[in-house]
Amino acid sequence: MRPIDLRSDTVTKPSLEMRAAMAAAEVGDDVLERDPTMARLEGRVAELLGLEAAMWVPSGCMGNLIGLMLHLKRGDRFLAPAQAHVLGAELGTGAWLAGGMPEALAWEGGPGRPSPAQVTRAAGAPGPYYTLRTTLLCLENTHNFAGGTVTPLAEHRALVAAAKAAKLAVHLDGARLWHAAAALDLPPAALTEGVDTVQVCLSKGLGAPMGSLLGGSAAAMAEARRLRKMLGGGVRQGGVVAAAGLVALDYLPRVAEDHAKTRRLAEGLRGFGVPAPEPETNILLVPVPAVAPAMAALETAGVRALPVGTAVRFIPHRDLAMADIEEALRRIEPVGHLLRGA
Ligand SMILES: Cc1ncc(COP(=O)(O)O)c(C=O)c1O
Repeated sequence: MRPIDLRSDTVTKPSLEMRAAMAAAEVGDDVLERDPTMARLEGRVAELLGLEAAMWVPSGCMGNLIGLMLHLKRGDRFLAPAQAHVLGAELGTGAWLAGGMPEALAWEGGPGRPSPAQVTRAAGAPGPYYTLRTTLLCLENTHNFAGGTVTPLAEHRALVAAAKAAKLAVHLDGARLWHAAAALDLPPAALTEGVDTVQVCLSKGLGAPMGSLLGGSAAAMAEARRLRKMLGGGVRQGGVVAAAGLVALDYLPRVAEDHAKTRRLAEGLRGFGVPAPEPETNILLVPVPAVAPAMAALETAGVRALPVGTAVRFIPHRDLAMADIEEALRRIEPVGHLLRGA
């Protein structure tokens, strides 16, 4: 039985069209000069984000790290929503490489979201010389481990305003900013308003085999280029992967289709008594009574998912059709009792 892989929106395979574009890419040495296809991708993403410039990096983690390195120095503190990817899933690099002491903000604004008042409170007032200086707010839209939750525009603006009033820089982890924008029916640029840097992924939901972009001012990106080289992220004929990224962007108008698949999955699960919440985007977190037996039963039934804390995470994606979601539901139903009663 072919497993239906709902572990992540990163499990997609490059399409034939993408592979053809990679083979045909015009390339140059991106460390010595600029690879022309890389430059085209960076220009297109900067425009999509409404920012002056963007820089390709191999992964979201490197994009976030460079963003944090731009803003932090030793003795600084940065704020981020509890369970943010930069706090728990990037091996603490914000602390030991970027030099900032992390502080998690509980979700006073809603799932995955701090409130503006909380940002003001946490930023506090400057203390004596031996205290940490809070210098950065790191946001995450959508918030992965809260279940793909969206920060709406008015709230984004209020959070940025609170940060700016407290003289904090703002970095946005927008690994799935595309999904937030699609859910709100806004252009992605609307959700970068006021931020200093943003990281967006091409490998999550859009189908590229690798690649993220860090966006910001031209001056910030010039410095970011130095940091990328320092971390070993400068690549040579990067046009080969940038070409894949350009094709991946063609999927943007279809991102909402994955949200519809996720809603259908949740509805189907509820149909046989699994208390699945209504997903906001393409991530469905189902709290379960015991994760290990639920995971084992799903695997045996031919449905792949990931454990996230006390929940099972399903992420429908472009390589799965609605018919695959229906088939996944048929396979889950006989083991559905293991997903009930958390
Ligand atoms: C919210 C968020 N930020 C950053 C990343 C890191 O991206 P990468 O795996 O490309 O390093 C992820 C990966 O899943 C993510 O979900």
